[in-house]
Amino acid sequence: MTSDLIFDVQNVTLRFGGVISLSDVSLNHKRGEILAVIGPNGAGKTSLFNSLTGVYQPQEGSITFFGRNAKPISIIGKKAHRVSTAGVARTFQASRMFSALTTFENVKIGAESHRGIGVLGAMVKGPATRRGEKMSDARTIELLDFVGLRDKANTISASLSYGDRRRLEIARGLATNPQVLLLDEPAAGTNPAEKIQLTQLIRKVRDEMGVSILLIEHDMKLVMALAERLYVLNFGSVIAEGTPDEIRANAAVVEAYLGSTTSDAEELK
Ligand SMILES: Nc1ncnc2c1ncn2[C@@H]1O[C@H](COP(=O)(O)OP(=O)(O)O)[C@@H](O)[C@H]1O
Ligand SMILES: [Mg+2]
Repeated sequence: MTSDLIFDVQNVTLRFGGVISLSDVSLNHKRGEILAVIGPNGAGKTSLFNSLTGVYQPQEGSITFFGRNAKPISIIGKKAHRVSTAGVARTFQASRMFSALTTFENVKIGAESHRGIGVLGAMVKGPATRRGEKMSDARTIELLDFVGLRDKANTISASLSYGDRRRLEIARGLATNPQVLLLDEPAAGTNPAEKIQLTQLIRKVRDEMGVSILLIEHDMKLVMALAERLYVLNFGSVIAEGTPDEIRANAAVVEAYLGSTTSDAEELK
């Protein structure tokens, strides 16, 4: 095992009853890399994210996360909030922020709610919250500034545009000071201009904060522009790995997409 990795996934199999969501998946994520996982619907992408974050517990294989100071941490068997504390942050496919709160409040409580204390615990400031480090107002403003939401700090989150909600999710993820940020379809529901801005923001997170990025994204144009390397999942298995150019030219990948929706196959070109 080498410390130039952030994740090392070996032979992971995840089953739900008779359904195999991940089948003997091996992959690695290099420290500082923008890596993407693509594949048709139902391929196992979200299952992989859930396995990397301690939400799902695969029956077979190993997942090693190289945390702060490249310390190896075995993920399988760890609770999600422990994985988060160790330095793995994520955003969700369906936005999970608290729409009645302001942008500022959402980021400020982000650190606590990501640690598994929950929004209620964070708000009533129970013992669990007091034990945790509370994020300062200054740090919250700094993060809002970084993602471009400082002027919307006092806006109720429900009234933000899709693009701004996605930025807010990223700020909340960064509030935990992660080593790696996992993004599940960060561009879902956004317009073309917002997609370009999100691409720039994600790159800035890596370049300026040194956070490794693992990305699931349906928008082929965005993913090919942003990712330095990709893995392709189909029916729970890795069918290809390579640079954007290698993936575009891979016959098995094109076939997997042709088997799903033609619009996805078109976008691969
Ligand atoms: N909690 C779960 N219980 C049962 N089956 C699940 C669960 N999570 C995922 N699956 C199954 O795993 C397969 C992969 O799903 P998923 O990881 O969501 O795919 P993707 O994100 O690539 O669309 C699907 O067949 C899905 O129904
Ligand atoms: Mg999914």
